Amino acid sequence: MISKPTIQKIIDEARVEDVVGEFVTLKRRGSNLLGLCPFHNEKTPSFNVNPARNIYKCFGCGKAGGPLQFLMDYQQMTYPDALRYLAKKYNIEIEETRDETDQKEQIEKQNLTESILIANTRAQKFFTDYMMNNEAGGIGLAYFKERGFIDKTIEKFQLGYAPDAGSLLTQTMLKEGFQLDILKKAGLTSPKEGSTYDFFRNRVMFPIHNMTGKVVAYGGRIMVKDEKAPKYVNTAESEVYQKSKILYGAFFAKNEIRKKDECLLVEGYTDVISLHQSGIENAVSSSGTSLTPDQIRLVKRITPNITMLYDGDAAGIKAALRGTDLILEEGMNVRVVILPAPEDPDSYVRKVGAEAFQKYIQENKKDLILFKTSLFATEAKADPIKKAELIRDIVDSIAKIPDAIQRSVYVKESSQLFDMSEQILITEVNKARRKKQGELQKEEEKQQQRESPVKDELSAAAHKAQTIENPSNLPVLEHDIIRILLEFGSWKTQDNETEISVVQYVLEELEGLDIETPRYKVIFDLIKRDFADGVVHDEGFFSANDDEQIRNLAIDILTQPYTLSENWWVKYKVAIAEKKDRFVKDIHSTIIRFKQFKNIVELRKIEKLLKEPKDEADLQRLMRLHVLLMEQKKEFARTIGNVVYRPNT
Ligand code: UTP
Ligand code: MN
Repeated sequence: MISKPTIQKIIDEARVEDVVGEFVTLKRRGSNLLGLCPFHNEKTPSFNVNPARNIYKCFGCGKAGGPLQFLMDYQQMTYPDALRYLAKKYNIEIEETRDETDQKEQIEKQNLTESILIANTRAQKFFTDYMMNNEAGGIGLAYFKERGFIDKTIEKFQLGYAPDAGSLLTQTMLKEGFQLDILKKAGLTSPKEGSTYDFFRNRVMFPIHNMTGKVVAYGGRIMVKDEKAPKYVNTAESEVYQKSKILYGAFFAKNEIRKKDECLLVEGYTDVISLHQSGIENAVSSSGTSLTPDQIRLVKRITPNITMLYDGDAAGIKAALRGTDLILEEGMNVRVVILPAPEDPDSYVRKVGAEAFQKYIQENKKDLILFKTSLFATEAKADPIKKAELIRDIVDSIAKIPDAIQRSVYVKESSQLFDMSEQILITEVNKARRKKQGELQKEEEKQQQRESPVKDELSAAAHKAQTIENPSNLPVLEHDIIRILLEFGSWKTQDNETEISVVQYVLEELEGLDIETPRYKVIFDLIKRDFADGVVHDEGFFSANDDEQIRNLAIDILTQPYTLSENWWVKYKVAIAEKKDRFVKDIHSTIIRFKQFKNIVELRKIEKLLKEPKDEADLQRLMRLHVLLMEQKKEFARTIGNVVYRPNT
């Protein structure tokens, strides 16, 4: 394991702009950097990198974090892998802690993701070992041999066989100290409550690797034809496996994809494996699920060129059609090759060999227009209505291409092909684009609303704000308290000549008052607890926190623009543009406003009680309280002075 001091060193050294900059083109925008978000599809950049805070945040999709988080989210690295990557990048020597604890304890120590990955790796060894060395596993090996897979291929793709025995894998791993809970979460053991049955039984096993080569899931194929049982059984989604974000074979193919500047996309596990075996190593598969934007983006990081290789059957063509538009939308170049029915890439490459296969691809590669046209050619020629439909369909596809030059190339090609005026086509494409853009914008706005709870809360409060004690103002005030604590907590401030931390100052000022909004309370309580232990954190602690909820909230708060248009609370808030000079005032006014709010809420409560006092003693008590609170109220008003809020109703 990497030692604590090494981890700290890495966290201190790693610069968000360096790490993100390796994968995303960033442009300066004031003190920040701005780029197209790599986590979602967008046309206008909303991905913000803040070097001063060492964090990034997308204001479109809400993804946020620091350098480590970026590698974990974008490159799908595990925590230790990301640390090692950064250590290498910054020439930091890794100090490992010597661990003499046994495997069982180690497994317990790992976090969930790590544990699942370890379990998957162990299972892969088990499946392979069982197939190669156990008599009962021989049928698995025989099956693969029958399909023409050579030893080297079996080894490379780490193929194996899951025994028919019921729970052999589960029992073996439990004995080794793996927890049943982890085996279930990894999808290796049946998810049924109390069951210790193996999830995969009597199937040949295809491990699915992530981009860094770790086994994240399995596909298990039945070896005989069986109408009742599914041909493939796949691991359910887990902490480490989201099928929409994985391409089978990508780990093995990525280098060759880069070299050839082209990615071949096929439909199945065996297609990928056969192509690789025959030396065509730039092939990946979406494994039965229809192609997703995330999968396309995975390829986009390596090459802009995708060639889809699909079966000539109706299902294959339909899948190809769906795929092409998605790929175009990502701004990539797509070509389609339809194989002669009934072949799939696996059967065809074995039939004709690598050379003839490559030749077939070269000769039959069609861009989207030729592909669509060829599909309908015979029908469309005879039928003008069909032809119009085809043109409309192609226009819609062209409209999805983000790049104007590429669009015009396609327009030209179509105009020649259909013997139509270019101008008409351009007009149609533009019309389709306008329509789409309207829809997109609406979608993006909706997304933005969904993704930023803090911002939502602030603007909702701003709109609703009628009086200062309006309950919807509370989250706004609490947000401000937390912001102060995150931003300035570790700064020093002057209190009666002695220097104390802002955390101490705020906590002392708020003594006896509670934070109510749950998500602010989580951070507040954490700060309070650690302060009691003598620990004061800086903002980096929160924006790089292990706890996703804390991290996201911290980044959300720290990256919140202060200028939320004309919202009432911004108007009377002390501007903190030059925060160094103003921060004392900022803190002071935030605390006063919070106390003022609490004071008024309390006052209203007392006033209500005063209307129906229980008895004479109660009345006396309430009146004393009321006088006290009224004095406080005046005091607050005086302190805030000229910035007392006056509702404009
Ligand atoms: P195919 O039926 O084309 O399978 O499904 P294949 O990979 O060519 O397998 P062989 O050659 O018949 O052995 C394509 C992909 O769809 C997914 C698998 O990922 C498969 O590789 N699939 C198919 C399933 O997940 N479940 C199924 O029941 C069938
Ligand atoms: Mn097949």
